[in-house]
Amino acid sequence: MKLAVQLIDPTEIDVATDALLVGVYEDFGLSPAAAACDRACGGALTRALERKDASGRIGAVTRLLGLVGLHSSRVVLVGLGEKSRLDAANYLKVLAEAAKSLKVGPIRQVASHLATLPIKDRDAAWALSQHILQFSRHLYRYQATRPRKATEVGLDRLLVATMVASATAVQATAMALADGITLCRELGNLPPNICTPQYLADTARRLATELPRFTTEVLESADMEQLGMGALLGVARGSAHPPKLIVMKYQGAADGDAVPYVLVGKGITFDTGGISLKPGAAMDEMKYDMCGGAAVLGVLQAVAQMALPLNVIGVVPAVENMPDGAAYRPGDVLTAMSGQTIEVLNTDAEGRLILCDALSYAKRFKPRTMVDIATLTGACMVALGKHAHGLMTHQDKIADELLAAGAKIHDRAWRLPLWEDYYSALNTDFADLANIGGKHAGAITAACFLSRFVGDLNWAHLDIAGTAWDEGRKGGATGRPVALLVQWLQDRVV
Ligand code: BES
Ligand code: MN
Ligand code: ZN
Repeated sequence: MKLAVQLIDPTEIDVATDALLVGVYEDFGLSPAAAACDRACGGALTRALERKDASGRIGAVTRLLGLVGLHSSRVVLVGLGEKSRLDAANYLKVLAEAAKSLKVGPIRQVASHLATLPIKDRDAAWALSQHILQFSRHLYRYQATRPRKATEVGLDRLLVATMVASATAVQATAMALADGITLCRELGNLPPNICTPQYLADTARRLATELPRFTTEVLESADMEQLGMGALLGVARGSAHPPKLIVMKYQGAADGDAVPYVLVGKGITFDTGGISLKPGAAMDEMKYDMCGGAAVLGVLQAVAQMALPLNVIGVVPAVENMPDGAAYRPGDVLTAMSGQTIEVLNTDAEGRLILCDALSYAKRFKPRTMVDIATLTGACMVALGKHAHGLMTHQDKIADELLAAGAKIHDRAWRLPLWEDYYSALNTDFADLANIGGKHAGAITAACFLSRFVGDLNWAHLDIAGTAWDEGRKGGATGRPVALLVQWLQDRVV
């Protein structure tokens, strides 16, 4: 169920709704909106704080019921922590806890005054945008194969108070981004028997029917054979699901010929490892190995919905990596579209093999900048954990742009070196290069591999192995790095 959002005036404290959502500082007491609310209901908030029934501790949520004097008889009071420490990160924490507390229960509609709080180093437009994004994020529930039970209903309508002059535009942009993130998560969460290469292709085709200036083209095995995509086709050979190369074009620039930004996303719909089979534990999580591709669909949908004045092309090689009698094997030498030969030393290093042909193909669009996004290496997760995307590029300018976009929208990346010194790890006597390096710096040698197919084009690689999903049964796809990429593209509009 999609969250409906409506803007309201901050002076409208007494709206007819299921609950009011206001903040209280740990050291400074009630926020202005909370104070207004307190006055209207005869000091009930002050009394709750005095009795220690409520607290200003950051993220603490208290529900006050049966209040008299307000149209909505409920107030949800959320702790803001110390006033001087309410920065971007803490504000997001406050929103997250407030949203989570409303995920189930009788409150279907809330009027929130959290977007009017002053946030360190951020403006009111950012606060409004993040309010919408965080609520959409934390109220999302996967239900494609497990419909929501009647007992699991919760908030589905958010009224946000804001003083931002351009609030409607901010709202539309935030909702477009929120929807792009949700699309990415939904595709990631779908099981691999449903979210096949065909399913991803159909979803991309649907976007073309729903969005203006949007076209989708899908290349089939025969097309890829003609193009000589021996690396991608090598990986695909073990699967009963034929591979698809999805090409989405959003033509938003006033000048139709304006050079495009190109995004390429790894779309392995399930990664068993192939003949170099992965261990069984947590192998189910390899359904998320298409999250780079899903992010590309999410970004394309978001920028089209925003009507961003840029040309953006998304390329998603969608392939399943399976062991089979026809599967490719360690020792095989594949010839990529670029003509380079690749010795396969491990069939589990399949992402780079489908990406190298997709990158070679994408060069035809003469991109201004090309960014690939991939759940590429366990090594990246070892290096950076689950918080930062790994960023690798030769161009400092692109690195700075992407790092800044990530910091701004709080979807952060961290740069790893891509020095010439690392490239020799891919040397082999049997082909132009091997598909794995040694045991060191696995995230970097994977990027070195990709870079051999990009040449001197403006290019960056985002390894999202640690960030694309949260582990475990309660986890799920995060929708990252859709926000980073959309922010980066928004920042490219002059
Ligand atoms: N999809 C995996 C990477 C991965 C593993 C992402 C675990 C998230 C969690 C990728 O295809 C892979 O298997 N990479 C290998 C590369 C190795 C064989 C050089 C890896 O990281 O172990
Ligand atoms: Mn693999
Ligand atoms: Zn993989």
